[in-house]
Amino acid sequence: MARRFIVAGNWKMNTNIEEGILLAEQIQHGQRNPETEVILAVPYTHLFPIKKKIKASSGIRLAAQNCHDRNAGAFTGEISPTVLNTMKIPYVIIGHSERRMYNNESNELLASKIQAALNNGLKVIFCCGESLDIRRSNEHVNFVKQQLEESLFTVDSTTMKHIVIAYEPVWAIGTGETASPQQAQEMHAAIRKMIHNKYGKRIADNISILYGGSVKGSNAKDIFCQEDVDGGLVGGASLDSSDFLKIINSL
Ligand code: 13P
Repeated sequence: MARRFIVAGNWKMNTNIEEGILLAEQIQHGQRNPETEVILAVPYTHLFPIKKKIKASSGIRLAAQNCHDRNAGAFTGEISPTVLNTMKIPYVIIGHSERRMYNNESNELLASKIQAALNNGLKVIFCCGESLDIRRSNEHVNFVKQQLEESLFTVDSTTMKHIVIAYEPVWAIGTGETASPQQAQEMHAAIRKMIHNKYGKRIADNISILYGGSVKGSNAKDIFCQEDVDGGLVGGASLDSSDFLKIINSL
């Protein structure tokens, strides 16, 4: 299986339900490169109404932006991976830097969330990435390695096919400052090598590694054409259908 080219939109806590449905329909009906897998990570409240509007044949898949590491229980306000599975939501984002930062999600907790998601048949988009301080101290590769070792690398090789990695340098998220294509390629190649060392060549060659952080229609092509960049996880620009379609079509 060759690795897939994926463009995922992370809407974060944006749009009301009507706006969300409209945006999803604009993307569904837009001119899209059929080679690109499109994923929309919408707010929980929007999953069901948007799912009803998206045709299976459109190739657009939905993702939750997080889930709990238990299937059920007294966890007020949390979202169950079992329920996501019964809703036939195929993907979940785990480890986004905003959740690490605002919800104190540790690598250890993320390991447990990844297991819970996989046990419930979900595919995981696992996010990693360093802060500006760490980048400036030139420790970024070691930092990301530790993030992977302490969370993702608890996954056994048979389930790695259900994992997509998103490298999102924190300093590039929502700042308008993108990693240069060379910086993205350097880190993606380093991540692929870490996967190779842990799981072997076949899994490393087949895993999709997305770049995230201020991707726009105007810069996507330069980043996506790097050898180890297999698409993007897009925040702000995924809220504008024409910019998002441009990103989808920039392969
Ligand atoms: P921006 O594209 O808005 O920088 O956000 C990136 C991101 O966090 C996607 O998960």
